[in-house]
Amino acid sequence: MNKSFSPIGVFDSGYGGLTVLNSIRKELPEYDFLYLGDNARAPYGTRSFDVVYEYTLQCVLELFERNCDLVILACNTASAKALRTIQQGELKNHPNKRVLGVIRPSTEIVGQFSKNKTIGIMATEGTVKSQSYRIEIQKFHPEVTVVQQACPLWVPLIENKAYNSKEGKKFIEKDIQRFLSQYPSVDVIVLACTHYPLLLPYLKEIIPKNIKLISQGEIVAPSLKDYLKRHDWLNKKISKNGQVTYLTTESSDLFNESVEYIFGQHVNAKNIHLK
Ligand code: DGL
Repeated sequence: MNKSFSPIGVFDSGYGGLTVLNSIRKELPEYDFLYLGDNARAPYGTRSFDVVYEYTLQCVLELFERNCDLVILACNTASAKALRTIQQGELKNHPNKRVLGVIRPSTEIVGQFSKNKTIGIMATEGTVKSQSYRIEIQKFHPEVTVVQQACPLWVPLIENKAYNSKEGKKFIEKDIQRFLSQYPSVDVIVLACTHYPLLLPYLKEIIPKNIKLISQGEIVAPSLKDYLKRHDWLNKKISKNGQVTYLTTESSDLFNESVEYIFGQHVNAKNIHLK
């Protein structure tokens, strides 16, 4: 292993975490990153607590072994179902490593954007059922009402590059219409799945302009920058050559093609088998 490559690990079940990684890279361009997409087992959103925990832990340990001292779970489902258990359990075996999620930074600030004090959460089934957003937002913004909608088809539509198809758009529009007619006072929607910002161009077409759409990358990136400032011992351990390496549990050709299609980015991923 190249010892001078001690990157920040960024993990997601699939391609969604790249929306977060891209925002982080804009904020911290000199840092090195190692992205791991567990594409072979995505989506996580409909899986049980135990399975999401087991898969997430496996991926975190893989990133630890590959020299990451800090791992970002750029996945809401994993952040909702596995983060706390990893922080309170497994991390005891790795006292000099840290694992962070995407829910806390989002819920800390989101309340300030809603005039009507009604925030909509669109997320995977797992994230919605965990109630993590409701619980966390209520802690920071007790005056806010949180309403939620699970969109179980959105991640498979993205992973399979079908989100721009006529049928794909129909499913997305149906979910939005149902949600907005049920909760007309929503004036902020958190895209609480890191895949969903990929739908933004279409969502902006079908969601009224007075509703603010929040993508997590724009919140997580400055929050991570601030975290690193406050944790200099950890910051010092991260290598800073502006390099990014991509790993996937699926075929690397498929990963490269999909990233090109979805993000217009040329990457050269490596396939790995998790232990
Ligand atoms: N990007 C993941 C999230 O933020 C998607 C989870 C899934 O694989 O269903 O929840």
